[in-house]
Amino acid sequence: MCGIVGILGSKPVAMDLVDALRRLEYRGYDSAGIATVENGHLERRRAEGKLRNLEHRLLEQPLSGLAGIGHTRWATHGRPTERNAHPHMTPRVSVVHNGIIENYRDLKAELSAAGHTFESDTDTEAVVHLITHELDKGQQPIAAVQSALSRLQGAFALGIIFAGHDDLMIAARQGSPLAIGHGTGEMYMGSDAIALAPFTDTITYLDEGDWAVLRRTGVDVFDRTGQSVTRPQVKSVASALLVDKGNHRHFMAKEIHEQPDVISHTLANYLDMGAGTVNFPDLGIDLAKVERVTISACGTAFYAGLVGKYWIERYARVPVEIDIASEFRYREAPLQPGGLALFISQSGETADTLATLRYCKAGGQHIASIVNVRTSTIARESDAVLPTLAGPEIGVASTKAFTCQLAALACLSIAIGRARGTIDAAKERELVTALTEIPRLISTMLRDESQFEALAHTLSKARDVLYLGRGINYPLALEGALKLKEISYIHAEGYAAGELKHGPIALIDENVPVIVMAPEDDLFDKSISNLQEVAARGGQIILISNADPEKAGCKLAAHIKVPDAHDFANPLLYAVPAQLIAYHTAVIMGTDVDQPRNLAKSVTVE
Ligand code: M6R
Repeated sequence: MCGIVGILGSKPVAMDLVDALRRLEYRGYDSAGIATVENGHLERRRAEGKLRNLEHRLLEQPLSGLAGIGHTRWATHGRPTERNAHPHMTPRVSVVHNGIIENYRDLKAELSAAGHTFESDTDTEAVVHLITHELDKGQQPIAAVQSALSRLQGAFALGIIFAGHDDLMIAARQGSPLAIGHGTGEMYMGSDAIALAPFTDTITYLDEGDWAVLRRTGVDVFDRTGQSVTRPQVKSVASALLVDKGNHRHFMAKEIHEQPDVISHTLANYLDMGAGTVNFPDLGIDLAKVERVTISACGTAFYAGLVGKYWIERYARVPVEIDIASEFRYREAPLQPGGLALFISQSGETADTLATLRYCKAGGQHIASIVNVRTSTIARESDAVLPTLAGPEIGVASTKAFTCQLAALACLSIAIGRARGTIDAAKERELVTALTEIPRLISTMLRDESQFEALAHTLSKARDVLYLGRGINYPLALEGALKLKEISYIHAEGYAAGELKHGPIALIDENVPVIVMAPEDDLFDKSISNLQEVAARGGQIILISNADPEKAGCKLAAHIKVPDAHDFANPLLYAVPAQLIAYHTAVIMGTDVDQPRNLAKSVTVE
């Protein structure tokens, strides 16, 4: 989603703004721009497409000024053209915005009637004209923004600079995250601390409804009622090295290879590996009395939750209700007060997940969240936080965050099972040992990727690909298909293997690769029956399994050998081949692996 930055600097800021925007590229964008104020005069440069286009523009037409704002835009209202790119401005004010102004049509009609001329198709421009309107009425910038904010509906993180004010920037947040950075004689603001890492590691996160007045000497923060408030300064761990891909060609590759380490860290947070026990944090709710768990999440995080459902129901014997966050909120599901609602999110800022969290909170649920960004809104609004220790995930396609989410969910299922007595001490040790083995087994798989590269050549010629899985492997089939379509743009669908004959089998012919995720578990024979149904119709079968390929009983187009592991821990292991298949296919297809088209890393609009 859009990224915003702002700098009140002591030297020209244009290139520093571009540098900060580069660190927000991972969020996904389709145009970019910056505006500066110099000697009281506002000016901007914008460009369609990638940041290099903006850099070219700045080489041709440099922009001076010691104060400025910048933006990477992920189009919501209006096509990704230069005309719609941010910053938007009038001669008096310039604005960058992340989010959606829901009442922009009404505002636009009102302001147009009052004589304002709009030049873009965006919702953001309504904010610019609203503030200008207040300035035109004789208000000073701070009062003008305060009046404008009171009229805005929807979600926003805003950065605002003013003509005639070289030492003033206003930032505001409602629904979209915003960080203020403290420097020495300089101040910054940005969508996240990663953007500000080259400049400062001292950060203040604005709370919901906050707005802040920045000057080079410091910041004053106000809440939505206009009361002056104090928000803590924290040290950010987002180091200046975060944009480093190491020896890897893409962040996604680096993040896939980090999995043995980050899964270990996450497991160590919840397990005493030496003792073979779970060492779970207090969730503020008696796990022995949990009668139902409700899980909500989006995309890959939703698929992690689906795996969690299989684990919690099977091992802890607690019914789990799970739904995509954007659906859950609107279907008016009855909630029993006191229930445990669990939210899963890498970014902790996904608008649909956050909205569902608030819905469940209002419904009397105890809120727990599995998040990767501990300072995120979802983490802050939860009663209990279960962190994943994946570290910053830059590739848009989630990899290490997914397997760390699985690690946390696996530990949670053991913890609930122990509390309820459905798992005894011996079983706990067995399951903990199974999880402990996983980082080593993933390392083994990552040693040689040649089988994935070979398979990727076949898949890159396909128009459609199907993924099949049974039981707990079904969510992995969904995740495998999502990963493939996200970054290779090949149409892929995941199905429950047993569901194939109820419709999707009509798609099978010799041109359709069918990837079957089938560890040799208690459902293996049934998966093989489904695989043979595909073989009988000429489908090209790719088997991902620890089993001897002979057991497929038919000709395979490929066999991806997965190490033997305990059934319980298999989902963490089988996630990795799906990631590597997608990655190598995308590399062959020549797509933008880390920033695939149309996608955003953190989806902060509903
Ligand atoms: O930050 P979140 O985990 O809440 O994000 C949820 C989804 O947007 C995310 O998992 C998305 O599906 C990824 N691009 C998948 O690779």
